[in-house]
Amino acid sequence: MQNAIKNYEDVDSWKTVMFLYNSAIKEVGTKLEILNDEFQHVHQYNPIEHIKTRVKTAESIVKKLKRHGHETSIENMVKYVNDIAGVRLICSFTSDIYRLAEMIGNQSDLKVLSIKDYIKNPKESGYKSYHMLVSVPIFLSDSVVDTKVEIQIRTIAMDFWASLEHKIYYKFEGNAPEYISQDLRECAEMVSTLDEKMLSLNEAIQKCFEEQRV
Ligand code: GTP
Ligand code: MG
Repeated sequence: MQNAIKNYEDVDSWKTVMFLYNSAIKEVGTKLEILNDEFQHVHQYNPIEHIKTRVKTAESIVKKLKRHGHETSIENMVKYVNDIAGVRLICSFTSDIYRLAEMIGNQSDLKVLSIKDYIKNPKESGYKSYHMLVSVPIFLSDSVVDTKVEIQIRTIAMDFWASLEHKIYYKFEGNAPEYISQDLRECAEMVSTLDEKMLSLNEAIQKCFEEQRV
């Protein structure tokens, strides 16, 4: 009976924290849409191609806690799992990434807790992306709760690579043969070259139009 009551309480707080994470995603998602709309309004240009959001499943929260050697509890998940609420911003050009990161950093109600720049310092796998861990205040009827959201910002090309690499690695459960990892790193290089080319092409096109205007 004792257990049943405890379980019931856990379910209740599980629902409460999940409610907070879902609300945090809504808040951050709306903020980003507004920034994108404002940018369109001022510069006639959209830095964000699209936004993907997700809340981590219970199963992968538990897996992550185990992987880091923590017991499964609501307290531990709130403390140690930083990517329960995740927002992914896909943009056209690498330059958009830093522009967006700056705009996010300037939002006075968001607290930037940490930044991982895997574009300047790609992962061993070849993975590139800009990660920001932020907290957003969620206003409830009688309290305000700062809730963590992981924002990943990447180009369409980086996203293409990360999605396929994730699928491939998932099949190998992390034990892919070296030649496959090597090929994936080479693909990451190609993706970076593509991003650089597209960026300089875009700059050249803009210059053409500016010269026409003069
Ligand atoms: P995780 O335990 O994987 O969440 O890593 P972490 O807490 O050290 O954070 P990190 O910033 O390294 O990675 C967080 C997220 O970035 C992951 O959940 C993935 O979405 C993404 N990511 C990181 N490394 C890779 C990679 O090598 N390949 C792919 N496809 N995605 C990656
Ligand atoms: Mg993760």
